Amino acid sequence: MSTAKKEVKRITTHTLQAMKENGEKISMLTAYDYSTAKILDEANIDVLLVGDSASNVMAGHETTLPITLDQMIYHASSVIRGIKRCLVVVDLPFGSYQGNSRKALASAIRIMKESGAHTVKMEGGAEISDSISRILSAGIPVMGHLGLTPQSIYKFGTYTVRAKEEAEAKKLIEDALCLEKLGCYAIVLEKIPAKLAKKVAETVKIPVIGIGAGQYVDGQVLVTHDLLGITKDFNPRFLRRYLDLFSEIKGAVEQYIIDVKTSDFPSDKEQY
Ligand code: KIV
Repeated sequence: MSTAKKEVKRITTHTLQAMKENGEKISMLTAYDYSTAKILDEANIDVLLVGDSASNVMAGHETTLPITLDQMIYHASSVIRGIKRCLVVVDLPFGSYQGNSRKALASAIRIMKESGAHTVKMEGGAEISDSISRILSAGIPVMGHLGLTPQSIYKFGTYTVRAKEEAEAKKLIEDALCLEKLGCYAIVLEKIPAKLAKKVAETVKIPVIGIGAGQYVDGQVLVTHDLLGITKDFNPRFLRRYLDLFSEIKGAVEQYIIDVKTSDFPSDKEQY
C-alpha cells in the first residue's frame, strides 16, 4: 500500500494573479469558524475572507465597527484550523490601522502570528497608503477594499451604491491605481456601478473581486450567511441566495422540540 499523501495544491496570491491572467474567475466567501471553513474549503473555494462582517452576522452588531483585533484573531485562527487549500485573508478591524502605520503593522503582525492567516485586507485608498506600505514592507500581503467601505459608514451615512458621481468614480480609479502601485495583490470593490468596476478591472493588472460590483470583474465575494439564507432581513439586489437555511434550521429545531416533548427522542436505538 502506498504511504504517499495526496498533495493539496494551495492557493496563493500568485495563483490569484495567474487566474486573472488566464481569465479564470476567483471565488471568495466569508468564514468565521472552523466547521464552516472546513465545508467551504472542501467545496474548493479559492479564497476565504475572515471579514469584519462577523461583527454583524456572528455578534449581531448593527455595524462592523465594534469588532476587536482579539476577536478577529479568534475567528481567523478557527478558520485556519479548518482549511487545507484556500487562501485566507483577514480584515484588519476598525481602529487597528487608520492613521498610524506603526499600529497598523503591529495589528497585521498579530493577525499573522496568532492566527496563522495568509494575508490581511484593509479598507481605503491613498489616505491609508502609509499603513499599507509599512505592512507590505514586512512581507505581509495586503488586499485593498474600495467603494462601499463599511468601516466608514458614519461618514457615508447610508449603505447605498457608491461612486455614481463622476468625482467619486475618478477618485476610486486613482485609489485602485495607488493600491496597485503600493503592491497590494488584489482589490475588493463593494457596491459600485458595474461599468465603473469593469473599468477598474481593465485598468489595474491585479485581481479585482466584486461584491455588488457586477459581472465584469475578476471574481466575486459574498457573505456566506447571506448566500445560505441564514440571514433573512438583508436583501440587496446583488445577493443571490442558494439556500433558505434559516427556515431549514428552524424547521429541524421545531421537529426536535416536538420529538423531545413527545418522548419520541431518544428511541430504543438511540440509547445505551
Ligand atoms: O467583512 C466582509 O465580509 C467584507 C466583504 C463584504 C467583502 O469585507
